[in-house]
Amino acid sequence: MLLLAIESSCDETAAAVVRDGRHPLSNVIASQVDVHARFGGVVPELASRKHLEAISVVVDEALENAAVGLDDIDGLVVTRGPGLVGALLVGLSLAKAVAFARDLPLVGVHHIEGHILAPLLEHEVRFPYLALAVSGGHTHLYRVDGIGRYRTLGRTLDDAAGEAFDKVAKLLGLGYPGGVQIDRLAAGGNPQAIDFPRPLLHKKNLDFSFSGIKTAVLNYVNRQEGPIEGSALQNLAASFQAAVVEVLCKKTLRAAEDEGLARIVVAGGVACNSGLRSAMRELCRVQDREVFFPSSLLCADNAAMLAVAGDYYLSAGLCDPLDLNALASWPLDRAGRLV
Ligand code: KG4
Ligand code: ZN
Repeated sequence: MLLLAIESSCDETAAAVVRDGRHPLSNVIASQVDVHARFGGVVPELASRKHLEAISVVVDEALENAAVGLDDIDGLVVTRGPGLVGALLVGLSLAKAVAFARDLPLVGVHHIEGHILAPLLEHEVRFPYLALAVSGGHTHLYRVDGIGRYRTLGRTLDDAAGEAFDKVAKLLGLGYPGGVQIDRLAAGGNPQAIDFPRPLLHKKNLDFSFSGIKTAVLNYVNRQEGPIEGSALQNLAASFQAAVVEVLCKKTLRAAEDEGLARIVVAGGVACNSGLRSAMRELCRVQDREVFFPSSLLCADNAAMLAVAGDYYLSAGLCDPLDLNALASWPLDRAGRLV
């Protein structure tokens, strides 16, 4: 089955053509980062307008790169939520229009469902596994028993980890989005230079909290006389990143142990972080667990990742009606469909 996948939940307009839910023939992403950078974050109204300008160009490019036409497509999969509702509606409307015009089946999937199944596009990952979804909007731990079978084990009580990276980068004047800049600076710094808090690390539950680390960074910055530059800035970035990474790794491994899961998937934009990748790999090696990270193109928002669930649902005859609406918030536990 050849699927056309469309994603527009935040600030990336993306389309992909994927064969049999496993083999991307194209994966096109048009980023709006430059548009939002001068505002220090995503401006929802601007995002919708930019999606509208980009969407048909991106879809045409995805078909062209895959060397197929709409006649070859067997179905559509689109992000239904969660996300910015105006942004989601652009992708959803285009997907519905193509489905109607070509009389093709359509299925709407959860954005995080896409992220946590993305490694299946590159690796054989057997179920069940533990998934850490870590992005600008999510820091959630899920037990994944199969496609459509998800159970939330823990979640952030305030900021998502990516949000904390972005806010800290902003207060250090590093620009938006800040995760990549902090990652780059941290590589040259000393992670033990400043002892930032590790919130909720010693609580037995699997929830996270990142707003306290962000405030600790702000207080540290306010205590300094003069600007923080050079190696001092690198040390600050490294120490902040080390605090976030330690909490993410330890809670994830505790969840794997509690649930008796030997395989771990780390997905979402923050899964690109080099400190997180190396620390998680090392801890999993010591504990004899397998860990899977998508490649960077598949960690960030993209459309190919949607096709894993989309193909599975459509193959089972589960499709959505053409009056399907976007959902700004949507718990993953309720989004999975049992086939
Ligand atoms: O999954 P994603 O592309 O979009 C959402 O669904 O939110 O994640 C974006 C987030 C941003 O907060 C960004 O700063 C963060 O992922 N990010 C990183 C890195 N690359 C992207 N955070 C830390 N280190 C990175 N290398
Ligand atoms: Zn995402």
